[in-house]
Amino acid sequence: MIENITFIIAMEAEAMPLIDKFGLTEEAAFSPKLPMRAWKGKWQGINLTLVTNGKNKDTGLDLIGCEAAALATFQAVKEFQPQLLINAGTAGAFEENGARVGDVYLSRDRVVFHDHRVPIPGWDHQSEGHFPVWDTGQLRTLGFKYGIVTTGSSLDMPQEDEKNIRRLGGEIKDMEAAAVAWVALLHEVPVFCIKAVTDLVDSGKPTHDEFLRNLRLATNNLCDGCERIIRFLAQSPDIRLR
Ligand code: ADE
Repeated sequence: MIENITFIIAMEAEAMPLIDKFGLTEEAAFSPKLPMRAWKGKWQGINLTLVTNGKNKDTGLDLIGCEAAALATFQAVKEFQPQLLINAGTAGAFEENGARVGDVYLSRDRVVFHDHRVPIPGWDHQSEGHFPVWDTGQLRTLGFKYGIVTTGSSLDMPQEDEKNIRRLGGEIKDMEAAAVAWVALLHEVPVFCIKAVTDLVDSGKPTHDEFLRNLRLATNNLCDGCERIIRFLAQSPDIRLR
């Protein structure tokens, strides 16, 4: 039985529906020097914690991206010692694979960096990460879509990144998952991603416009998806963590 789960979420807009849904309350869990924020609660018998990357104090904007995600995950693992990490957020996906705005995907197999280009044998593969993710096949009956998540530090998709994503079999494009998975791997904590689609990266439309237009729809669907997963895990004593 899983008793202790931590969500790692980049943006507060992605996290707030979940904080409300699960009735979590904020805790001063980290050094005041750090921007990360944490919430805690119990829902359906599972101890839930949720950590966001926090905001830049000068701009007031969320600290999206790998650096903040890695630090948030490190702090979360140290403080809450979860049995399972869930990286929840929004992402881009490919229309040509049948993705639609608002779809909710679970990670499968591994997460990879698609913009770490180091053409030296050994470092090429290592730099891409290829971090394993938890076996979400156990959640099949919930009817989510599945995809390989690839991570980069930019919202757009220049040709070089697109080439890499295609080579890596990437289906979901985000800005945090591989960083979260790396820290999870170091601490031997199983991790998976749930990502709601804000934009179709092959639609020809500007990604930032699609992202902002569809953020509310995607975060609502993300919240519904997370609720269904926690309810399922709470009712599945035989779920395997390894
Ligand atoms: N988050 C939402 N949409 C994204 C995209 N297209 N690329 C990276 N991160 C995203």
